[in-house]
Amino acid sequence: MLRILAIESSCDECAAAVVEDGRRVIANVVATQAEIHAKYGGVVPEVASRRHLETMIPVVEEALAQAGGWDAIDAIGATFGPGLAGSLLVGLNAGKALAFARGLPFIGINHLEGHIYANWIQAIADEPLPEFPALALVVSGGHTDLILMEDHGRYRRLGRTRDDAAGEAFDKVARLLELGYPGGPVIERLAQGVTPGVTLPRAWLTGTHDFSFSGLKTAVLHLTRDPARPSAAAIAAAFQDSVVDVLSAKTARAAGEFNVKMVMLAGGVASNTALREAIVARSPVPVRCPPPRYCTDNAVMIAACAYFHLARGERSDLSLDVQPNLRFAE
Ligand code: KG4
Ligand code: ZN
Repeated sequence: MLRILAIESSCDECAAAVVEDGRRVIANVVATQAEIHAKYGGVVPEVASRRHLETMIPVVEEALAQAGGWDAIDAIGATFGPGLAGSLLVGLNAGKALAFARGLPFIGINHLEGHIYANWIQAIADEPLPEFPALALVVSGGHTDLILMEDHGRYRRLGRTRDDAAGEAFDKVARLLELGYPGGPVIERLAQGVTPGVTLPRAWLTGTHDFSFSGLKTAVLHLTRDPARPSAAAIAAAFQDSVVDVLSAKTARAAGEFNVKMVMLAGGVASNTALREAIVARSPVPVRCPPPRYCTDNAVMIAACAYFHLARGERSDLSLDVQPNLRFAE
């Protein structure tokens, strides 16, 4: 049995968690800064890192309290990239300092790989483990990747966005419609049960597994300037339809082409119900959707990912530095 304390602070969530054997959640604490950044319409890096400094210790203490103290902890993991440099620094240094002080093994985790490992968390009792090869759709605020996962630690990126990430498109469109930040949840709520009455473009990039969302964003901009513009709810619904259609169709196609055993969803946008339903409906193989709380940024997924690295005997040196542009599966 291996219990890992993990820390995540790559963007605007300050999170700590304790997970047993990469699967059972013992503690989960997330302090979101969303209200603070909402008034600026997006994350302000300096504000985010300063806030992480204030919340990190209480968040870690709360996770430890939930887990029953230090005696329950065997190792520590922390996100070291990609993300905002100042934000990453707080969580990584907290993780390294605690590992040093406690004499515990330490591992640095790639945030995107962490998102995929939300699929290993036991959310429903007796849920079967993911099977390889699997196809992961990673849709977050900064990334939109289709990744073939052949085994633990073995990835091949099949496609990616050529411009905006899916989550970024949700956030930008929400700003155009003056709906606030973060855009994804607001757009989803507004679009619920609404018939768009207008169809927005879809960038298929046929023959590739790549995506593009910047043209869609521009189409929304033009629509908002139209004197006969539809309601914000109708635009939100048309926008979401377009994103969901392309993401689900291309994921289902890649799943068939690469003969995977399952599709796994990951990242904040994967908490979108319309997207989850469309992928389940179209995929030729079973689809795993982690509960929304494990799709958006959290430390549970980092602990799950850390477990598989540590179980393979991997360790990070305490000289590990943040890598804001850390790559994944390229
Ligand atoms: O994974 P995440 O929490 O942070 C990053 O690693 O970026 O993803 C955040 C992104 C934001 O762009 C947010 O608008 C989007 O995920 N998001 C959603 C939903 N919830 C969060 N997008 C669509 N529908 C949602 N329900
Ligand atoms: Zn994330």
